[in-house]
Amino acid sequence: MLFEPYKLKNTILRNRVAMAPMTRNQSPGGIPTNEVVEYYKRRAKAEVGLIITEGVEVSHEASSAYPNVPRLDSEEAREGWKKVVEGIKENNGHVIAQLWHCGGFRKLGMGPNPEIPGHTASGLVRPGKRVAHAMSSFDIEETVEAYASDAKICEDLGFDGVEIHGAHGYLIDNFFWNGTNDRDDNFGGSIESRSFLATSITKAIRDNVSNDFIVGLRFSQWKQQDYAAKLAQSPDDLLEVLSGPCNAGLDYLHSSMRRFWESEFEGSDENLAYWTKKLMNIPTMSVGSVGLDGDFTDMMASAKTASIDKAVQDINDEKYDMVAVGRALLSDHEWVIKMKEGRLEDINPYTKDSLIEMY
Ligand SMILES: Cc1cc2nc3c(=O)[nH]c(=O)nc-3n(C[C@H](O)[C@H](O)[C@H](O)COP(=O)(O)O)c2cc1C
Repeated sequence: MLFEPYKLKNTILRNRVAMAPMTRNQSPGGIPTNEVVEYYKRRAKAEVGLIITEGVEVSHEASSAYPNVPRLDSEEAREGWKKVVEGIKENNGHVIAQLWHCGGFRKLGMGPNPEIPGHTASGLVRPGKRVAHAMSSFDIEETVEAYASDAKICEDLGFDGVEIHGAHGYLIDNFFWNGTNDRDDNFGGSIESRSFLATSITKAIRDNVSNDFIVGLRFSQWKQQDYAAKLAQSPDDLLEVLSGPCNAGLDYLHSSMRRFWESEFEGSDENLAYWTKKLMNIPTMSVGSVGLDGDFTDMMASAKTASIDKAVQDINDEKYDMVAVGRALLSDHEWVIKMKEGRLEDINPYTKDSLIEMY
């Protein structure tokens, strides 16, 4: 079923393979260039079912932590994105923009507003390190509004949906994680309250876009600050983490793992995506070294092409609904076609060179 069409909400995708969101730092001034347009177009042409863009920094003064990451807050940036969307659509592809707030990864002095510090739930950037600005209710309100208005901009530009980046230790994950959130208001305390930022953002987006527009959430147990961290120690915890955002109107969940074949909870062999779908019963994406033999700990390390038999079987068994492919789609834009035809030996293996240019 992996290479057969799949209906996500009201959108029919060519297959169940998504391109995972991958930051490329190739959009000076936040503006996607023509190389960026061609990069995505090439993958749509080569039958990627759903393209999830690299993280796009939301239109808030504290969202940025990296140079040359695309944004939506200028006419030029929106024009650039329009061309990206058109290039993908001309090739029968579909595209979702990933909306990103870097939270505590931002430091004073970073562009485009050098005087603005990193924003986090409680000033913590990792457990024990309180060096960022603890967000006020007003900061939270402004941030939520930025997500909602950017989602609407994305809809107007022709995107099929947006994905809220709630993973890997960035702002929303900083709220999710008890190691970095010790607030005592509605946004901290219980698991449900720590999810309330994701819930509020989902709801605000949902209220601002049309019914058909897809709204997803990416989340992870692992953080860049701690690969072994867990938001949920058990399926019951996971239900609590995800219920608020799901009930606020999510259309899919994207369970980010580093190795999708690993079991998530003791006593079961199943991975995070399996549990996500089982508990929440909405379309779920699984990601993490699909088609590769080496995990994402070090993106500079080479990885060999590997069989995708397990992912194919999991999809056939309806353990989850889609897979997202990251690095393997950087090194070979024709990964879907070659995998579908069983031409594994023809796939360009992943090396750090794949990170350099927008091939
Ligand atoms: C160069 C690069 C940039 C990435 N940027 C993002 C990003 O902007 N947003 C995000 O959610 N994940 C990002 N990731 C993580 C990937 O989406 C994916 O989860 C990870 O690479 C594991 O999948 P893979 O093993 O198929 O590469 C990035 C990964 C790489 C290699």
